[in-house]
Amino acid sequence: MVRGRSRPTPDSPLRRHSGRPGEEPAYHYPDRDDRVVLTDADGKWPYPQYWDRSERYALHLVESFLAAGSYASLLDGGGGKGRLLPTFAGYFRAVVGLEPDAERAAHARRVVEQRNLAHAEILHGDLAALESRADRFNVALCCHVLQHVPSQDVASILDAIHALLNVDGLLILFAPRSRQSTDRFVANHLAQGRVVSTSVDEREFNRLIVNDDGILPVRLFSEAQLEGLVRTRFVVLKRWTYRERGPATLFDRFILRDRVFNLPLLRRHFGENLVLVARKPGPRRR
Ligand SMILES: C[S@@+](CC[C@H](N)C(=O)[O-])C[C@H]1O[C@@H](n2cnc3c(N)ncnc32)[C@H](O)[C@@H]1O
Repeated sequence: MVRGRSRPTPDSPLRRHSGRPGEEPAYHYPDRDDRVVLTDADGKWPYPQYWDRSERYALHLVESFLAAGSYASLLDGGGGKGRLLPTFAGYFRAVVGLEPDAERAAHARRVVEQRNLAHAEILHGDLAALESRADRFNVALCCHVLQHVPSQDVASILDAIHALLNVDGLLILFAPRSRQSTDRFVANHLAQGRVVSTSVDEREFNRLIVNDDGILPVRLFSEAQLEGLVRTRFVVLKRWTYRERGPATLFDRFILRDRVFNLPLLRRHFGENLVLVARKPGPRRR
């Protein structure tokens, strides 16, 4: 049975965004209804079920980490519509989902209700505006969020997550990678039912963070740079990659390709997305 605190305490460190006059304007994630992402899911993958299988592989590896330990509370930072709550909520006694887009937060609340996740709470708020207070969560999940925030917010979000984790708490980070030594920035939009991806510079990426034109700006992180940012705050425990486009090969009949390209010599060349699991060290071990 899941027990524990079911609601955040009144002094919750998570700031709520209402969009009321005098406050910051309401934020809308530009890919309404996830149309760009879901259309991309039909893209050039080796076989129709691959996109989902690859995702499940990555989530399963995270689950094996969680199952091996005992963690009381989860922060699902940038949890969107609550897509991952059914997968992860059962590992924790208390779950807080944080989402700055009000419609998506409302959707996540419906997931909480429909799935009877009485120990989960969805807050309307922004990872870049967390009012830090130490020692709160045992695990912070940040799944495909950092690629959509203004570039200057990435470090402050990692700081905020660090401040909100207990010592030995885990950061679980998913992000797309550039496979180059530098970050790349793209703007994705739909044209005639297909995703068109255009390279943009960092300034244009930042300008597009909020837009009503259905353009989804995405930052593809250099693995070294992103891991460097994580390493200045955390101890990286594990990394792997997932998802690789390209035609089916004979191998795909027998094994999920992600398993092969996570072999040590191959991993740096394959996989569009990076998953990092990192631990917050205690003051003396840092
Ligand atoms: C690609 S979606 C991922 C949603 C969810 N993590 C998942 O994997 O299904 C990115 C989410 O990040 C949210 N987001 C964007 N900027 C954010 C910020 N500064 N703090 C928290 N969430 C943010 C968006 O509103 C959106 O719901």
